[in-house]
Amino acid sequence: MKATIDHIGIAVGNLAESLAFFKDALGLELDHPEELASQRVRAHVVFTADGRDGATLELLEATAEDSPIAKYVARRGAGLHHVALRVDDIEAALAQLKARGVRLIDDAPRPGAHGTRIAFVHPASTHGVLVELVQR
Ligand code: CO
Repeated sequence: MKATIDHIGIAVGNLAESLAFFKDALGLELDHPEELASQRVRAHVVFTADGRDGATLELLEATAEDSPIAKYVARRGAGLHHVALRVDDIEAALAQLKARGVRLIDDAPRPGAHGTRIAFVHPASTHGVLVELVQR
């Protein structure tokens, strides 16, 4: 399997403070926010110099108190949430991991932001790093 870094997910506690850093202080460009209703999350994609096709940062803002991101921030504070690896064939990637006994959160791909297909791998099988597989 070949994989590249697609994005780094960051759980945001206070969006204005996060934007003050990434947008104002660093001067990075932001995409239009995208609401992921099923996750009760709003995603703000921050572009690096590689642009839309390169590795990005994904600021995740909870839109409801029962959002997984709200729970994460309440428990562990704002900060690094997941690492997303881009793969060519997400079904093949999941099958390969399953065959090796890796614990998956998503057995099958589900829709992600911007028309992508995503699946999460359980941190119990990844030494504590929540891993997201992404097929664009
Ligand atoms: Co992500």
